Amino acid sequence: MKHKVIFDTDPGVDDAMALLFLHKHPEIDLVGITSVFGNASIETTTRNALYLKREWGIPAPVARGANETFDPSRPHAGWPTFVHGDDGLGNIGVPDDIGLEPDPRPAHRFIIETVRANPGEVTIVAVGRMTNLANALKEDPEIAGLVKQVVIMGGAFDVPGNVTPAAEANIHGDPEAADHVFLAPWKIVVAGLDVTHQTHMKRGFLDDMAARGGADVKLLQKVSDFYIKFYAHAVEDGMLVHDSCACVYVVAPELFELRSGAVRVVCGGIADGQTIQKPDGMQFGPSEWDGKPSHAVMVGVQPDKVLGLLSRTLAP
Ligand code: BDR
Ligand code: CA
Repeated sequence: MKHKVIFDTDPGVDDAMALLFLHKHPEIDLVGITSVFGNASIETTTRNALYLKREWGIPAPVARGANETFDPSRPHAGWPTFVHGDDGLGNIGVPDDIGLEPDPRPAHRFIIETVRANPGEVTIVAVGRMTNLANALKEDPEIAGLVKQVVIMGGAFDVPGNVTPAAEANIHGDPEAADHVFLAPWKIVVAGLDVTHQTHMKRGFLDDMAARGGADVKLLQKVSDFYIKFYAHAVEDGMLVHDSCACVYVVAPELFELRSGAVRVVCGGIADGQTIQKPDGMQFGPSEWDGKPSHAVMVGVQPDKVLGLLSRTLAP
């Protein structure tokens, strides 16, 4: 049976590659795309999701998500235009009017209704801020017991963050939402910077895929140029494919090493948005992790195999 997936995303250059992987992988049934603010405003990320749906002929609906943090009093810090461009897709000039309408339901309600209609079957892959998931849980906490699993791109556990030395972008953008999500009793697997920073895609690798593949991969190549230039500080002529790591896990979990334990998020102060796991079996305490649900955090990856699966799927 195929994996039914809701993709919660803030496209976003690396989100775009992850979306194309979910759309093209034969074992995945992409049942919905939910937008969230993060790499750009909610207007822009929703427009981008609709644009990619149109360009790639993706049948799944797009539901528009949150445009404010779980705690609405949290100050807004601005968009990372230096990473993803002013249009969120590498400044390729995405048209304003896509000619497609989003689903009438807000993202969190789309998630609730889709999960309730398919009990035990839906995997949520969340690669933006955790706001939509937290809003869905707040409105209907029982969905935690009805979801198959949640696979998250976010956090930095045994490595530094990327927005601050402590925090990764998706978690830093809405720490209260992330903590709420980690406190829920659903099965979560987290792809943090611990593994995504090991998964480098070189420009030549992308060029090869684009040469072999169709117009869909050529669009990825176009949107990625700006992002590759940004990543020059971390990757020699290449980029980090953060969000694709979470998607690959759904069909190839054997490519990742996991560690189990409760996860909490620092909310406020200089370490705002830091993700900290208490590995199962760790002694001492008491602590704020005790009695909280254990989740799986990725601590190892086979990057070449992840890239190989991406390549075979995107440009078969
Ligand atoms: C995450 O932040 C965003 O810039 C990317 O799309 C990815 O989801 C990496 O920290
Ligand atoms: Ca993202």
